[in-house]
Amino acid sequence: MTQNDPAAPTCPVHHMRGPEKFNPFTPQYHANLYGTFDTAREEQPVFFSPVMNLWVVTRYDDVKAVLKDPEAFSSAGAVAPLTPEILRLIGGPDGPIQRTALVNSDPPLHTRFRNTFQKAFTPRQVSRLEPEIRELTQSLLADLGTNKRLEAVQGLCDPLPLLTICRLMGVPDKDAADIKRWSADSIRASNPALDIEGQRVVAQSMIDFYTYMVELTRHYAAHPAENLISAVVEAQTDSEEPLSFEEIGGLSRGLVLAGHETSAALLGNTLQTLLTQRELWDALCAHPERISGAVDEFLRHGGPAVGLFRQATRDVQFGEVTIPKNARVWVTYLAGNHDPAQFPDPQRLDLERPNAANHLSLGYGIHYCIGAPLAKLELRVALEEMTKRYPGLRLDAEQEIEHRPNFVMRGLKQLVLVTD
Ligand code: HEM
Repeated sequence: MTQNDPAAPTCPVHHMRGPEKFNPFTPQYHANLYGTFDTAREEQPVFFSPVMNLWVVTRYDDVKAVLKDPEAFSSAGAVAPLTPEILRLIGGPDGPIQRTALVNSDPPLHTRFRNTFQKAFTPRQVSRLEPEIRELTQSLLADLGTNKRLEAVQGLCDPLPLLTICRLMGVPDKDAADIKRWSADSIRASNPALDIEGQRVVAQSMIDFYTYMVELTRHYAAHPAENLISAVVEAQTDSEEPLSFEEIGGLSRGLVLAGHETSAALLGNTLQTLLTQRELWDALCAHPERISGAVDEFLRHGGPAVGLFRQATRDVQFGEVTIPKNARVWVTYLAGNHDPAQFPDPQRLDLERPNAANHLSLGYGIHYCIGAPLAKLELRVALEEMTKRYPGLRLDAEQEIEHRPNFVMRGLKQLVLVTD
């Protein structure tokens, strides 16, 4: 039997036998994501991937070390790079859209941006949304009550965080469809397979999104209301280096973008796990007060952010491996969260896991997710409403569970729920 013989047994992690085989753009990778990272962590925890042309960091301690050293690891280019044509059309790397991305900026600019937003994004801004999230969940679940069946990705997981982030920022519900389209286009902006017309469409969406958020900022500067944009406008008035309306609008666009696809994927992933491990769902239905304490474990286990990028500003040593100056690095939160040295039996969703809160699903250090309290609130409230109203909820047994082919964000294509 030769290696090319179709009858030859295939190793489940055959594409990871050597870093040169590591390829997150293949279906095999998506089918065996955790196995791939397990092998990497054991065999070559920090390795160079020729396919991605960057270094991959997979162990919990190493991921954390990268995240807590923004001097050695710059966030310039933390998200996947835009195609050159889109970058040109939106004004280049120093244009207003690219310059106002919190996640991509380094101190001191990052500190200036973040301080103002952090000051405005108070626990009150988050907690005022709880009744609205509850009501939204109930109304989105109405179909389930009537039809006894719901495709939850489109029917619940996507719209709930989208409408919530809109309400946080002060975007009227009627504009949510535009926000969704602009966001989806912005996410496509790094897809090298886009043709020239597609790139123009995407660039226009990014410009429209930015313009809309800047206009909204001007509106709330003139007519303050109870929302985050008004609070940011207010917070920067006594600042030594106040943010311009363009900066507030651009940064708000980033918050909207970061704040819904992620939460949507987390809810889908968590529902799938809980309904597959039925005893956990039943335990939460019997004791809904346990949901709040388990949110960090849901994030650790099903956190959708696989990893983001950094750029080494100098040579950095990890054991025997040196990441060279200027190299790009993929820090994989997901691999860190499944490192057995930190979280024993990591594939198990353990509602009582004592150190679940140490997960990396929301990042770590200066770029730690600014929306973390909102992300946790959305998940808690959605699960509280669902366990209360539909304890008999189950997965449609006929469906095939498939993930979206997105290597930085792990989310389901669809999830059909049924009830009696
Ligand atoms: C389950 C939901 C969420 C997940 C998994 C998630 C994940 C993350 C991660 C991993 C980072 C760190 C990025 C880095 O290391 O470079 C981050 C940062 C960020 N997140 Fe979230 N996030 C979620 C929800 C939200 C929400 C609801 C908002 C907005 C309200 C938000 C806004 C942001 C922003 C603006 C940053 C950049 C912060 C900075 O660079 O200082 N995220 N998020």
